[in-house]
Amino acid sequence: MNQEDIFKNIISHSKEYGFIFQSSEIYDGLSAVYDYGQMGVELKKNLREYWWKAMVQMHENIVGIDAAIFMHPTTWKASGHIDAFNDPLIDNKDSKKRYRADVLIEEHVAKIETKITKEVEKAKERFGESFNEETFRNTNVRVLENQAKADSILDRFKGALEANNLEEVRQIIIDAEIVCPISGSKNWTEVRQFNLMFSTAMGSVSEDANLIYLRPETAQGIFVNFLNVQKSGRMKIPFGIAQTGKAFRNEIVARQFIFRMREFEQMEMQYFVRPGTEIEWYNYWKLARMKWHQSLGFGNQNYRFHDHLKLAHYANAACDIEFNFPFGFKELEGIHSRTDFDLKAHELHSGKKLQYFDPEINQNYVPYVVETSVGLDRLFLAVMSKSYVEEKLEDGTTRVALNLPAFLAPIKVAVLPLLKKDGLPEKAREILELLKYDHACTFDEKDTIGKRYRRQDAIGTPFCITVDHQTIEDNTVTIRHRDTMTQERVSIGQLVTIIEEKVSFKKALQSLKQVP
Ligand code: GAP
Repeated sequence: MNQEDIFKNIISHSKEYGFIFQSSEIYDGLSAVYDYGQMGVELKKNLREYWWKAMVQMHENIVGIDAAIFMHPTTWKASGHIDAFNDPLIDNKDSKKRYRADVLIEEHVAKIETKITKEVEKAKERFGESFNEETFRNTNVRVLENQAKADSILDRFKGALEANNLEEVRQIIIDAEIVCPISGSKNWTEVRQFNLMFSTAMGSVSEDANLIYLRPETAQGIFVNFLNVQKSGRMKIPFGIAQTGKAFRNEIVARQFIFRMREFEQMEMQYFVRPGTEIEWYNYWKLARMKWHQSLGFGNQNYRFHDHLKLAHYANAACDIEFNFPFGFKELEGIHSRTDFDLKAHELHSGKKLQYFDPEINQNYVPYVVETSVGLDRLFLAVMSKSYVEEKLEDGTTRVALNLPAFLAPIKVAVLPLLKKDGLPEKAREILELLKYDHACTFDEKDTIGKRYRRQDAIGTPFCITVDHQTIEDNTVTIRHRDTMTQERVSIGQLVTIIEEKVSFKKALQSLKQVP
């Protein structure tokens, strides 16, 4: 099955088993907005908790906050979002479809690069062992032509963006003969900048109402509270402030399920450091965050760094952690060394000092900041896409399972009485009572035991406990392991230890300890 089909299956599986629903589906949905169902909410909560424990609970010098979504409008002037949080948009006059001009250009270049890759693959097959890729790339006429075409488009595009020259961006689209994927025509409008922030009004009387924005990132809630936390928590630099919460962006090209949403959740941490030490801390957090992702066990080869060559004006180093999604490697987390840009901008716009007195060097300064920022929904998609497996079993049937790390699974234990009679349900409920205070458990007595196992596999439940007639006699049950489908007979007294050992966050958190 190709990646596209697998991705489609993941989307329908997410709906069928209560992980993710389209928002307001009964009204035909709201584009790029999604709801988490009964399973999704648990998995999302566990991912958030793993992040929170790793960032806050495991670090004596990192604390959390929960700032409001609404903030004083000047916040967004200071942060640069009002003036510069824009996407360049272009419309096709025939299809009336709107596109991000940069995406059209980047996708066009990606197509040229795919042609080159195909040419190289073909030659590799033809020449076998003796094939030298570097020589081929440097000499093959078609490859050289295509490479020159791609480089020239990218160079022009970079120049146009740097000069904020939207006419030139349009001209690149015309010159590259990029067509609308719907109408197939080259009938393009001008390129316009479009601000991505959602706004609403605060105040009861419309004339007095203030324009208020829904935050496009959680980070600014941390910056404006920097001194409150530092003073009330008596924090000493270096220290961090972490936050998880909703962010809103009026994304124009919102595709690929929960990868790019209009309402999403971020998990961000700002690490305040002494100026001059920021690159050291940037490198520390780069490694620490990569290790955190890899600790989920989906294979280190599915993660890579993408270092930014062109830096935003406020950053002196930046990279993404990219993940191998079903549609290719894409950004999962951003790590940025943001200098003192944000705190200085808030000092300027608020007129309040946002400085720290460093007793070690006897100096006041505006701290520098290293930021780690991961999208919780994107992380959810990464986890779903690598956990989802369709397995052919020896008996010829297919099993769909979610091989989630046990500590992330929405339900940890399913308690299943073999029959609905002979006191088995009552005994099963006793076991549920024993376990439910510590773990998310479920009770299921409908259908055959085989069907019930499959239902639990499909939502990623690591343990199924079956209560049978022997249980009544000797207080033993069978415990079935999701990944191996093996069963063992254990006493009820052993259950707590067996389950706790596998489902606690402890082992995963301990594996992060050696960082870096
Ligand atoms: N404070 C820095 C910041 O917001 P960003 O690269 O714009 O940086 C950080 O966003 C992360 O938030 C991204 O790596 C991604 O995981 C997530 N994210 C951004 N836009 C998103 C969207 N429209 N839908 C889902 N996740 C998004």
